[in-house]
Amino acid sequence: MSAAEILYEGKAKIVYKTDDPNILLAHFKDDATAYNAQKKGQIVGKGKMNCTIAAHLFQMLETAGIATHFISQTAEDDMQVRAVKIIPLEVVVRNIAAGSLCQQTGLELGTVLKKPLVDFHYKNDALGDPLLTHARILLMEVVTETQLNQLIERALQINQILANFFEKCQITLVDFKLEFGCDADQVLLLADEISPDTCRLWQKGESDPSRRVMDKDRFRRDLGDIENAYAQVMKRVLAQSA
Ligand code: C5P
Repeated sequence: MSAAEILYEGKAKIVYKTDDPNILLAHFKDDATAYNAQKKGQIVGKGKMNCTIAAHLFQMLETAGIATHFISQTAEDDMQVRAVKIIPLEVVVRNIAAGSLCQQTGLELGTVLKKPLVDFHYKNDALGDPLLTHARILLMEVVTETQLNQLIERALQINQILANFFEKCQITLVDFKLEFGCDADQVLLLADEISPDTCRLWQKGESDPSRRVMDKDRFRRDLGDIENAYAQVMKRVLAQSA
């Protein structure tokens, strides 16, 4: 794909155009960043593992009735996807308190939330991806109120499906980030990726706050053994049918 035109290069992926304007090729990189790219590194084999995990999860979600941009995995670290116009919101769903929720509310790490929480962040590196209120989203006209409600409903459906799936993998789905986009027919599709880069995943039944981590927090918090954690997630995900 070296001659293909790059549409967009992000922190973890390069998106190439194809001959078909409705189809793009997403290449998953080993590059890892955290804290709005203030911390940078590489996780060996991450691109292949995340692409494979995301492909399996997208297929599983499609089977469960969720429309996604996924078409097919064309190489270990390449995925064909439907072209969408990305909605500039990061939709974060939380089941258990961790990360910025703890920092911003004082809730204790590991507190099980009475019901899932859906947070929105503005996808804007220059502003540091700030947390937005619903009122601000409508004020900024990022989406309409109907679309906002549709995003919340879709995110909660995905949470239920994913949490059940990971439970079967002996993994607790703590929280995760989703991105959505609209295709040429204005159909809302789940986009980007779902992987240990975008989810907090804890080994079920493990209470040690360092040992249980099977996701990018191992990189963020310098916990080591990152590649093994990602490989373990991939092995367990692939063992469950899509
Ligand atoms: O940092 P925070 O606690 O808000 O992250 C919530 C979830 O969203 C985590 O699973 C994290 O990996 C994910 N996330 C992401 N990309 C971002 C910000 C958060 O995948 N830019």
